[in-house]
Amino acid sequence: MIVGSTGSGKTRFAMRLSQELKHFGAVVVLDWYGEYSDIADRAILVGSSDPVSIPIEDPLDAVFLLEEVLDLTSPQSYLLAKVLKKSKDVEHVVDLVEAYEPEARWEVETKASLARKLSLLLRYGKIFKVVSPSDIGKIDLLHRGRLTVFDLSNLKTLELKRLVALGTLNAVKYVKERGVIEGNVFTVVEEAHNVMARSKLLQRYLAEVRKLGVGLVVVTQSPAGLDYEVMNNTNIKIVKTLKSADDIVAISRSMNLNADVVSTINKLEHSEALVEAPSLSEPVVVELS
Ligand SMILES: Nc1ncnc2c1ncn2[C@@H]1O[C@H](COP(=O)(O)OP(=O)(O)O)[C@@H](O)[C@H]1O
Ligand SMILES: [Mg+2]
Repeated sequence: MIVGSTGSGKTRFAMRLSQELKHFGAVVVLDWYGEYSDIADRAILVGSSDPVSIPIEDPLDAVFLLEEVLDLTSPQSYLLAKVLKKSKDVEHVVDLVEAYEPEARWEVETKASLARKLSLLLRYGKIFKVVSPSDIGKIDLLHRGRLTVFDLSNLKTLELKRLVALGTLNAVKYVKERGVIEGNVFTVVEEAHNVMARSKLLQRYLAEVRKLGVGLVVVTQSPAGLDYEVMNNTNIKIVKTLKSADDIVAISRSMNLNADVVSTINKLEHSEALVEAPSLSEPVVVELS
């Protein structure tokens, strides 16, 4: 995990790290603001290039994913699951919901609100396509020594960015699960608080991918806004300067820092970071070039 206030140098550090990690496996970057193109071996400008493949194994996967991305209520998720049980055509889920005949009074209202939320994403055919995980081998993304950047900066809504980010994380998981590529994969998630804030999906994901040899680099300005489980599940923490008291408290608690160390966090220079790693007996301040 790389944390720090805006402008503290997280992205610059994550870029250096990505270039190093290339020597140890494939690297995939979810580039929120379009800052990584210069170092990419392959940059995908999402929305302007070929649609990104989002693997969905069964309708329930789609429900979990959309629940997360669109912040669905329980009745909305339930109705979505019901609709997708009949037809598995996830790409046309907006039409399916619109064509659905409510069977109870509560479904009338829920159908309308669900359709409204879904229309935020699912009419954008060029941005993504739903694929079966068995076709995942055709997704030519991940090669050792390759740095693939998904540039999300062209996407207009948070929901679309989140969908592509979570969908790509899923793609990485399937590729590893099915042995499509050997070796490590490192996934760098920029502005991770937007992707992982309250993600039940991500908690499960973290537990699953660790076994598969997928490394996750979580970059965020807002440790307080990140799911506590996600934060505690990261082994190495690189703390750049933080200004907000809430964020300092969140990171200090998760790293179990003493008061002296805590008081240095808002005074770190651009080139400095407080680092915690399993190999260190206590956190140390390091100089980054
Ligand atoms: N180690 C450093 N030394 C000098 N300048 C740096 C360093 N790290 C970052 N910067 C500069 O600070 C600015 C913000 O860096 P950036 O990595 O984009 O921050 P963040 O991602 O935390 O918002 C950039 O102009 C960058 O060049
Ligand atoms: Mg940044």
